Amino acid sequence: MKKLLIETYGCQMNVADSEVVVSILSNDYQVTDNLQDADLLLLNTCSIRDNAEQRIRHRLQELAVLKSKKPSLQIGLLGCMAERLKDQLLKEEAALDFIAGPDAYRSLPELIKNCANGETAYNVLLSQTETYDNIVPVRYATNGVSAFISIMRGCNNFCAYCVVPYTRGRERSRNPQTILKEAQLLVNQGYKEVTLLGQNVNSYSWEEDGTVITFARLIEEVALLSPSLRVRFATSHPKDISDELIQVIAKYPNVCKYIHLPVQAGSNAVLKRMNRVYTREYYLERIHTIQQLMPDCAISTDMIAGFCGETEEDHQQTLSLMKLVGYEYAYMFKYSVRDNTTAARNYADDVSDEIKSRRLEEIIALQQELSLQSNQRDIGKIFEVLVEGVSKRSENDLFGRNSQNKVIVFPRGNYKKGDYVDVKVLSCTAATLIGETVES
Ligand code: SAH
Ligand code: SF4
Ligand code: F3S
Repeated sequence: MKKLLIETYGCQMNVADSEVVVSILSNDYQVTDNLQDADLLLLNTCSIRDNAEQRIRHRLQELAVLKSKKPSLQIGLLGCMAERLKDQLLKEEAALDFIAGPDAYRSLPELIKNCANGETAYNVLLSQTETYDNIVPVRYATNGVSAFISIMRGCNNFCAYCVVPYTRGRERSRNPQTILKEAQLLVNQGYKEVTLLGQNVNSYSWEEDGTVITFARLIEEVALLSPSLRVRFATSHPKDISDELIQVIAKYPNVCKYIHLPVQAGSNAVLKRMNRVYTREYYLERIHTIQQLMPDCAISTDMIAGFCGETEEDHQQTLSLMKLVGYEYAYMFKYSVRDNTTAARNYADDVSDEIKSRRLEEIIALQQELSLQSNQRDIGKIFEVLVEGVSKRSENDLFGRNSQNKVIVFPRGNYKKGDYVDVKVLSCTAATLIGETVES
């Protein structure tokens, strides 16, 4: 059998997609992690910010050199950069033999064949319906404990700064029967945790025989498969995080008490220009409802510093909102203009790079404090931890996560990967809880 190496960049959706791609190619290719052995190299790429694309451009330069030494190596580029730049990439990057967009993976075997015969080597057609729903992903890089399940594709939200609606196409939900089947298979194989993935999982919707399955219903059905299967999900858009969904998360102990609810910015003026379609007040009300119903629920966010027109006052509102929510964790970025988005077409990128950097640093410093405070509040508490493996720092320690998605390190004892262990927190850093096991 021929050998395939796949490098995955970008978000969790890409990680899940790479597993689908390996499955589609599994008749002809076996995965290797050694580039020397590979007959085919695939790069599953991301366009979300300019630096994400630059990183891949550098990789392609390196690969052009490698390819000149080993011309038999076929190299293909997949994912959002393929969709955004299309055949332009084939012209610009000597390393590339073919490209395929996110909805074109079923055509990969044909593309690879055509390209070996010197024929057309790209497919970037987007689909209204493709969800790869009958394809069983190959978990080629798994830890055997947790797995992703893609439940929908695309995005219809058109946040002004974002390329995703252009690179991933229209939003579509996957047949719930195939989602449940995939989850059940993972349970049978001994997996202990699934993460249901979509750009905006709250708007999951499937209609059959006059009944509508919402995301709240779907999560409930996955949670009911097994009480020892943890259920996570990402990403939630604040605009449609319903009371029904919050109640389902609260009701089932195996639905993790962790919600990634990206706010992006704290001022109404900026939120409006971003087309996030909610206000600061609405967002804070949703947070209040979550915290009322689930005092132990962790909340994280994404933040963009220096979006078009952002004033110092707007930035202060971002900092004040972060303090009001007290986020457990945040992913924080400098605004990066993406061609053809609403923001690129309509607004000037008028915050200087220097100011963006300074604001980003302030956001990061504040989050560091909030994370530390949150971890300090956990000292003395006992959490159920799902063990993911041996700690990188010491082989005498294991690490895992609690329901709130916080990493906890503790002495190994007789425990192993995949076990649920009760751990009492003794100390912490801003990033990690440190504890000891207790008898349950
Ligand atoms: N669907 C998710 C996020 C997808 S992209 C959501 O709506 O929250 C992940 C994050 O990248 C976004 O939440 C945003 O914070 C950031 N991002 C997207 N486009 C960006 C851009 N042009 N510049 C900087 N950050 C961006
Ligand atoms: Fe991008 Fe907004 Fe869609 Fe998230 S919801 S993927 S930020 S357009
Ligand atoms: Fe990147 Fe595409 Fe995901 S742009 S963040 S890989 S949807």
